[in-house]
Amino acid sequence: MKILITGANGMLGQDVARDFRDAGHVAVGVGRGDLDITDARACEAALVGFGWVVNCAAYTAVDLAQIDEAAAFRVNSEGAANLARAAHRAGARMLQVSTDYVFAGDGVTPYAEDAPLAPRTAYGRTKAAGEWATRAECPDALIVRTAWLYGPGGANIVKTMARLSREREQLAFVDDQRGQPTTTAHLARYLADLIGVGAPAGVYHGTCEGEATWCGLARAVFEELGLDPGRVRGITTAEYPLPAPRPAYSVLRHDRSDAVGVARLPHWRDALKETISDVVVRSG
Ligand SMILES: NC(=O)c1ccc[n+]([C@@H]2O[C@H](COP(=O)([O-])OP(=O)(O)OC[C@H]3O[C@@H](n4cnc5c(N)ncnc54)[C@H](OP(=O)(O)O)[C@@H]3O)[C@@H](O)[C@H]2O)c1
Repeated sequence: MKILITGANGMLGQDVARDFRDAGHVAVGVGRGDLDITDARACEAALVGFGWVVNCAAYTAVDLAQIDEAAAFRVNSEGAANLARAAHRAGARMLQVSTDYVFAGDGVTPYAEDAPLAPRTAYGRTKAAGEWATRAECPDALIVRTAWLYGPGGANIVKTMARLSREREQLAFVDDQRGQPTTTAHLARYLADLIGVGAPAGVYHGTCEGEATWCGLARAVFEELGLDPGRVRGITTAEYPLPAPRPAYSVLRHDRSDAVGVARLPHWRDALKETISDVVVRSG
């Protein structure tokens, strides 16, 4: 199976390219310099000869998107549409990576794959538009929503927590937002499995099992690093305001993974234990 991976220099794209090759696929990773997904003609030329495209390219600066939504829309919606149209014309399928930010984030029970979209941020709106555009242009596409992603190949909260543990004695992290810390390595395997079983078109949730707060995640990182988790104190969202409001509740259900017989991702705590040395060591 010949698979094109866009955004292959990004945090997820690096692990996807590596994991897909390990899984025996002919995986060709392209960074922005090789393929700018906002260029429709370039997308069409790039898709020739491929059976799948996995779109890991995105405008991911959540706070910057609040002041330049158009820039985020060009990549997250128009770029996704370009790839989806090109895939459909080439007779290929597309896997579009999306986000928990498409939901309102004010729920109290986990969001199902078909829960209504109600994004509260510019980034979330552009990713929701990307989902709709992808499904409209390439009806055979898979949409995989993930959240709270970390891995060795990019800047992320786990690396930040490890760095701050060396720089400060006391740390404070938000303790009233709940989500599912998710590793790029496990997500990459999940995506490869979906493609491997030829999963039917539609929406899937690719997040680790369980749930945590940022403070809980930081304490777990401290435990894994052999440090005293008591150095991390919880604060409220109101004490740490950001330009883009963060969802209070971002826990996703995984019913469709079960329905198609693809293994769920592991519990976030086990996934952290398994990957932390790679994540922290490769961060330098
Ligand atoms: N990180 C998270 O916590 C998280 C949570 C939920 C969902 N997601 C989703 O997961 C996916 C992967 O995210 P990530 O964390 O790996 O992000 P990332 O590290 O920022 O990678 C995104 C990549 O896309 C590239 N890109 C940006 N604009 C492009 C364009 N016009 N054409 C081609 N490539 C372009 C970027 O290149 P440059 O470096 O040159 O800009 C970057 O390499 C995205 O769809 C994101 O929305 C991420």
